Amino acid sequence: MSNKVSRRQFLSYTLMGVGGFMASGMLMPMVRFAIDPVLQQSGGGDFIPTSQKVDDLTEIPVRVDFTIKDRKDAWYYSDVSNTAWVYKNGDTIIALSPVCKHLGCTVNWGGDETHPDQFFCPCHAGRYMKNGDNVKGTPPTGPLDEYEVKVEGGLLYIGKTVSNTLV
Ligand code: FES
Repeated sequence: MSNKVSRRQFLSYTLMGVGGFMASGMLMPMVRFAIDPVLQQSGGGDFIPTSQKVDDLTEIPVRVDFTIKDRKDAWYYSDVSNTAWVYKNGDTIIALSPVCKHLGCTVNWGGDETHPDQFFCPCHAGRYMKNGDNVKGTPPTGPLDEYEVKVEGGLLYIGKTVSNTLV
């Protein structure tokens, strides 16, 4: 039996090779475009400026709104509004996430008349202490997250959320 490659086989192998090379040349940019958001590095660690003057903060939590500009979500950019509950503990600035650890509703400071010195979640009557610790016996199973903070020019800057370090 001969191992010779016939002219027909040679031609067909060559066409398959060239065709495969050309197809991969066309497909690679498409695949790269499709998974581009996955390949992008996040800009973690950025601080967002707020209009809150640090000197105006007291030991009573206040709601501070801030906007994350041009937040990238896959292929889309949009401005995202966000909120923090901010107060001073001595000289330390504490900023807590308002997102309830039960099912994600928004908590309010002093929202429950019978517990005016706690955070209250109106969805299922969840409660948190001022440091974000969840009150046992209420639905939330963990403490509120904290935001990283910094001060620049007397104004409060808010960074990414981290696990609560106060409880
Ligand atoms: S979502 Fe907050 S208590 Fe249920």
